[in-house]
Amino acid sequence: MQAWAIANQKGGVGKTTTTLCLARGLALAGQRVLLIDLDPHASLTRAFGVPANPPPAGTHDLFDNSGASLASLARATQIDGLKLIAAQPALATLERRGATQPGLGLALGRALHAVQPLYDHVLLDCPPTLGLLMVNALAAADRLVVPTQTDPLALHGLADMLRTAEMVERSRRRPLPQHVLPTLYDRRTRSGVHSLELLHDRYEGRVWPGAVPMDTRLRDAPALTTAIAPSGRGADAYRRALAWLLAQHHVPQRQAA
Ligand SMILES: Nc1ncnc2c1ncn2[C@@H]1O[C@H](COP(=O)(O)OP(=O)(O)O)[C@@H](O)[C@H]1O
Ligand SMILES: [Mg+2]
Repeated sequence: MQAWAIANQKGGVGKTTTTLCLARGLALAGQRVLLIDLDPHASLTRAFGVPANPPPAGTHDLFDNSGASLASLARATQIDGLKLIAAQPALATLERRGATQPGLGLALGRALHAVQPLYDHVLLDCPPTLGLLMVNALAAADRLVVPTQTDPLALHGLADMLRTAEMVERSRRRPLPQHVLPTLYDRRTRSGVHSLELLHDRYEGRVWPGAVPMDTRLRDAPALTTAIAPSGRGADAYRRALAWLLAQHHVPQRQAA
């Protein structure tokens, strides 16, 4: 099993869209995939049509003392082989508890350990804040994918995110390969083209050589939760990005449970 954290400390950079597109690509290729929504805003959960009220069982239950197992919280989706653990608004309160409850930073990693035989890939859709939930994801992940908007301001956010990842990597003493995915690319703007060049210069080797273009068809997140392949330049770009990510051989495999 391989756990992927999809994270960036900045919001609106395409994290949830990326998570969804990579996960559906893996599942449609026959892999057993689990999605975990770690964002209290629950965009991923809403895309799958899970209602907000009453709050669904899901990610929060992994952090309380209910004893809920990750396997029991996973719900089926319309795509064969793709399961989802839903986010609840109560996740937002976890950050406060985290400070007073030692060990909570590793709760997700422990839960994942127990389901290793059940999934080939687990994708973690992170919130845009550096708090307990993101730290859990970075501590548990085998690789980090950082979707990055191709504009000058977003490059600062990327530097922050990679610094955070390196900090976590040092403290957990296990490599965390980092991959940068340029998103929301508009080749008609000079700042878009310039930002993409800068990304490649600064982070050579870690950046996917392509870029996910602006494509309004990707805005329809619920359409991405069905098995019918969405068409268009955006969906094609994500297919190529997934192939590139899977070809990065330096991702260490987890030990079998
Ligand atoms: N390549 C794209 N082209 C057009 N719209 C996009 C693209 N990627 C994401 N979006 C839209 O941009 C918004 C933010 O994307 P989202 O994936 O929710 O970002 P995040 O999870 O980082 O907040 C959403 O409305 C989403 O549908
Ligand atoms: Mg999101």
